[in-house]
Amino acid sequence: MFRSAIRDLKKLLLEYVSGLRETRRYEQFMFSQFFTSKKEFLTYKNEAMGSGLISDMDRKLRIFDDLEGRTYRSGDYRDGIIPTHDSVFLYAIIRKLKPNTVIETGVCNGYSSAVLLLALSMNKRGRLYSIDFPEHADVEYEEGTFWNGKGGDVIPEGKECGWLVPDNLKDRWELILGRSQDKLPGLLDTLDSVDVFMHDSEHSYECMWFEYNCAWEKLIKGGFLASHDISYNSSFHDFARRKDKRPFFISGNFAFLVRYLRD
Ligand SMILES: C[S@@+](CC[C@H](N)C(=O)[O-])C[C@H]1O[C@@H](n2cnc3c(N)ncnc32)[C@H](O)[C@@H]1O
Repeated sequence: MFRSAIRDLKKLLLEYVSGLRETRRYEQFMFSQFFTSKKEFLTYKNEAMGSGLISDMDRKLRIFDDLEGRTYRSGDYRDGIIPTHDSVFLYAIIRKLKPNTVIETGVCNGYSSAVLLLALSMNKRGRLYSIDFPEHADVEYEEGTFWNGKGGDVIPEGKECGWLVPDNLKDRWELILGRSQDKLPGLLDTLDSVDVFMHDSEHSYECMWFEYNCAWEKLIKGGFLASHDISYNSSFHDFARRKDKRPFFISGNFAFLVRYLRD
């Protein structure tokens, strides 16, 4: 019993150290691609971490510690947020690029939306359009309402989609409720161009492929398409190949493609 506990602890430690190594490798690569120096990236990172937003959201998300239950597809309830490491990179890149128009699909409790909105607010420019087809923990849904592969990402009882976004960041935000398959084309029709697009909604091959293709057509030269959960299926890699693009990996599950002038 004691020996097996030591073995488990050792395994955990090894996983932690190799995770740190991987993160450092990605970070070094990304710094050289997008930031003039590591110091520049760290300035943005410290700004995000020092803002209090992330720690405040982490504290609010403790509501999930007591939220037990499963979706009709048997997914254990969870908050579904993008990891802090990925959100800090996203923040830094938005601060660096200073985009005018950002679209994200997949809001749920609003972690990534809040981080994007904080960066736009610090830039003093830009709007965020978010699309989400939310699943609420206290609602009974008919079989087939959501994609069968969807995990247990839910919004707790009594909370609204995007409830983590503080009121003082909402003036640059438009939240559109509905399936991205239905809402994204209409939204894109109303916009002249898009600087940044991020997928984090339904991770089916069909939905991801659909979103990438729609968004890419409106993406400005120099803009970028980011995708979370790229390991769910091969759609992101297939799309990158189709467009002859080399992905930039922020982590093993988060990457983006930059649209260059010649594209
Ligand atoms: C992984 S969560 C998003 C998490 C969010 N990016 C964050 O960091 O907090 C995915 C969200 O997409 C929603 N969703 C599922 N299918 C969708 C669809 N077809 N269109 C739009 N949103 C969808 C889910 O209900 C959920 O709210």
